[in-house]
Amino acid sequence: TVLILDFGSQYSHLITRRIREFGVYCELLPCTQKIADLHFIPKGIFDVKAFNTWQGYESVILSGSPYSVYDVDSPHVDTVVFELGVPVLGICYGLQEMANLMGGKVEACDHREYGHAALTITKHVDHPFINLLFEGLEGDIQVWMSHGDQVTQAPPGFRIIATTRTAPFAAVAHEEKHFFGIQFHPEVTHTVDGGTVLRNFVVGICKCKTSWTMEISKMLKDAFIDTEIQRIRTIVGPVGQVVGAVSGGVDSTVAAKLMHEAIGDRYATYVCYCEHCGADTLICCHPATSFHAILVDNGVMRLNECASVKKMLGDKMGINIEVVDASALFLGRLAGVTDPERKRKIIGNTFIEVFEAEAAKIDKKTGGGKIEYLLQGTLYPDVIESISFKGPSATIKTHHNVGGLLEDMKLKLIEPLRELFKDEVRALGTLLGLDDELVWRHPFPGPGIAIRVLGEVTPSQVEIARLADHIYIEEIKRAGYYRQISQAYAALLPVKAVGVMGDARTYEQVIALRAVETKDFMTADVFASAEWFLTLKKISSRIINEVKGVNRVVYDISSKPPATIEWE
Ligand code: XMP
Repeated sequence: TVLILDFGSQYSHLITRRIREFGVYCELLPCTQKIADLHFIPKGIFDVKAFNTWQGYESVILSGSPYSVYDVDSPHVDTVVFELGVPVLGICYGLQEMANLMGGKVEACDHREYGHAALTITKHVDHPFINLLFEGLEGDIQVWMSHGDQVTQAPPGFRIIATTRTAPFAAVAHEEKHFFGIQFHPEVTHTVDGGTVLRNFVVGICKCKTSWTMEISKMLKDAFIDTEIQRIRTIVGPVGQVVGAVSGGVDSTVAAKLMHEAIGDRYATYVCYCEHCGADTLICCHPATSFHAILVDNGVMRLNECASVKKMLGDKMGINIEVVDASALFLGRLAGVTDPERKRKIIGNTFIEVFEAEAAKIDKKTGGGKIEYLLQGTLYPDVIESISFKGPSATIKTHHNVGGLLEDMKLKLIEPLRELFKDEVRALGTLLGLDDELVWRHPFPGPGIAIRVLGEVTPSQVEIARLADHIYIEEIKRAGYYRQISQAYAALLPVKAVGVMGDARTYEQVIALRAVETKDFMTADVFASAEWFLTLKKISSRIINEVKGVNRVVYDISSKPPATIEWE
């Protein structure tokens, strides 16, 4: 077992994911974990199946962090970790923490480094053990950096095993102690050989067993669906009712489909008091669902979205879905607001209000007091984040989901997807018979087009962005790029540019097109190729011709980091 200590990086859970991918079991714990308390299996974080494979820690990985090691409130590791005799790998902040504690020097860089960098590997002929980290790799490799500090002096006993143009201590190692430190992030997919580096560490250096299985389809087919349906039935019981928000996205749809399979089609059951014997009796009455899906139209959805989600989930999948048109309320509250975080908060809070009112109506219809459960499509990365040492990692954006609902509504949570990663949810969707179109749908953020209309969100601005986006996605699908691109959308910029149409001068707005490739949405690269550029030209011309108010289209070529996928 590999112990990963989380210092709050955006990417900590990806380390877990990558290592489990090649069959090594690992656990992620907050960096404040006291090492002396780890004689016992930590409770409540992973399921029993996982604990069966636990045989003691063979190595420790220290994650990255948004902090600087010299910040007064920065998190620090229990230094006992360095006395266990097991290999330790520090990643980014983890390297800086090791260097700082062992007598090296860490300083703010003159040039903060985000994105791709070429890492030059230095092999040591006389010290084969420290070469193991880059075993199978030679010369320069592409790595992903995201740091503001760097090591400027290695601690005694450490040797340099790789450098970049700006980082002379990009990777270091201590031969006798088996300590390694790397400045780049091997866990993100944009470090092309990141998997090899992590594998070299846990398998080559730490000799961890590769017997942990996480073969997606097998795991899902053999155990997941049936077990989960049974679990839901047991939790909800014969009379329980469940509400859940759906958006048409893959997570909420898969969760809703599972719930529908479990309790969507059963007889309504009532508890009656028997006059003769005094016992409670369960009476089955007419067929009725116990699952109520709610789709809130917030006025900032994509073109025809509500109708098509209703058709897909309701008519095609048979899910009991209620569409609430609250667009006027949302757009009214967004009037005059330009700050991205305020937009997100307004949409999040209004969503809760509308959802609760609808749930109360449904509760009344079903007799009152019967709705006890709330379905949520929480995924495994969210679960890991909530065990971090200071809650979730640094807030970059307040992601809107239904997380705020629980406290106010006093509903108990059911989260059938909480052990799964996104690609596993997609595999599950396919196994449950969902259409490919739904399973492979690009993600769409809760605050919708409101965060894709930069500046004030007015109905007419939403209309422009919506139409441009529709044309963009339609052309992407027509050209066969939809599955290759991880996420694409059109954003409307709050600037005007001069153009010429017919013989007249125009002064109109600009549409920015975004298309990224990513595996996990934590890091992303622009989607680019010469052929794609030709498609973009066609799309640009269609948008300018068909969308009134737009005379210019630009393509966003930034990577994440330093940009994010959404503009706001
Ligand atoms: P960023 O812009 O943070 O986006 O790079 C990463 C992924 O998250 C999506 N996103 C959201 N999803 N509610 C959501 O459900 C939100 O508030 C939200 N904000 C961003 C974004 O579309 C991308 O897939």
